[in-house]
Amino acid sequence: MHVHAILYEPTLFTDELYQRALLLLDSESSARIKKFYRREDACRTLIGRFLARMLLHERGISLTDMTFATTEAGKPFATNVDPPIAYNVTHDNGLIAIASSANTYNPPAFTIGVDVMKVRIPGRETFASFVETVGDQLTAHERHLISSAETQDQGLERFFWMWTAKEAYTKALGLGLGFDFRRVEFDPALDILLVDGIVPKGWQFTKFKIVQHTDSYQGVVGEYVGGETISVLSESLPHEWLTVEDATSFIQRAIQRLSS
Ligand SMILES: CC(C)(COP(=O)(O)OP(=O)(O)OC[C@H]1O[C@@H](n2cnc3c(N)ncnc32)[C@H](O)[C@@H]1OP(=O)(O)O)[C@@H](O)C(=O)NCCC(=O)NCCS
Repeated sequence: MHVHAILYEPTLFTDELYQRALLLLDSESSARIKKFYRREDACRTLIGRFLARMLLHERGISLTDMTFATTEAGKPFATNVDPPIAYNVTHDNGLIAIASSANTYNPPAFTIGVDVMKVRIPGRETFASFVETVGDQLTAHERHLISSAETQDQGLERFFWMWTAKEAYTKALGLGLGFDFRRVEFDPALDILLVDGIVPKGWQFTKFKIVQHTDSYQGVVGEYVGGETISVLSESLPHEWLTVEDATSFIQRAIQRLSS
């Protein structure tokens, strides 16, 4: 499994670079990107599309030969790649990431999902009102873990592990928003994850953290890898499977590689 993360700072990502990048994408991607009202949303999706294309490029596939599709629930995948590449994209604020692996379970989109979130209390909420807002998506045990945290920071961190784990699992299954998040319970203090009250055998969850200046992101990759056990890999383990790069360098390099 590998995660490639891109740090995106809107003020450093020029219009000229955005326009040049857009020209390289297929008409469906470019139409979807142009529909965004906010340039930042457009750029996050654009960078995600390039992350998927660079994965295929590394396999020696030329841009003109790359083909993509989505499942009925909207999960994107690459078609006609042999052996296949399993991947999933996520974005939040200044971070866009792709998780990829040689997963072969559940083609064509495969059982891999990733979610990242910036660790912060959104908008004008207080920690208490934020927890109240999202509370109905959490189990009683999860709510207890947040309310019993020693500090607000610890509570917030716990919440984002829970949330990104739920999202990673749901995205691995390729499901949309219809999935009841309370079915997944994650205890980030003990790294125990349950689905419908039981351990989901064959799953691997990998937690990671990316810190950029004062911003901190938490993410989880969820993947069905087979077998009889579950593993939850702590964020404190070395992230040798993670590469982080800034958006301008990445897109410049991608344009150059994909055009040649
Ligand atoms: C995509 C989704 C599962 C996760 O959203 P999120 O946590 O807000 O967003 P993330 O940034 O982590 O992930 C977004 C990316 O996930 C991927 N994605 C989209 N649908 C997906 C799905 N069903 N399963 C897994 N990944 C999906 C895409 O690459 C998307 O990036 P893009 O919008 O730039 O193309 C959620 O937005 C959703 O369910 N959307 C609605 C899907 C829908 O309407 N389906 C209709 C038929 S059921």
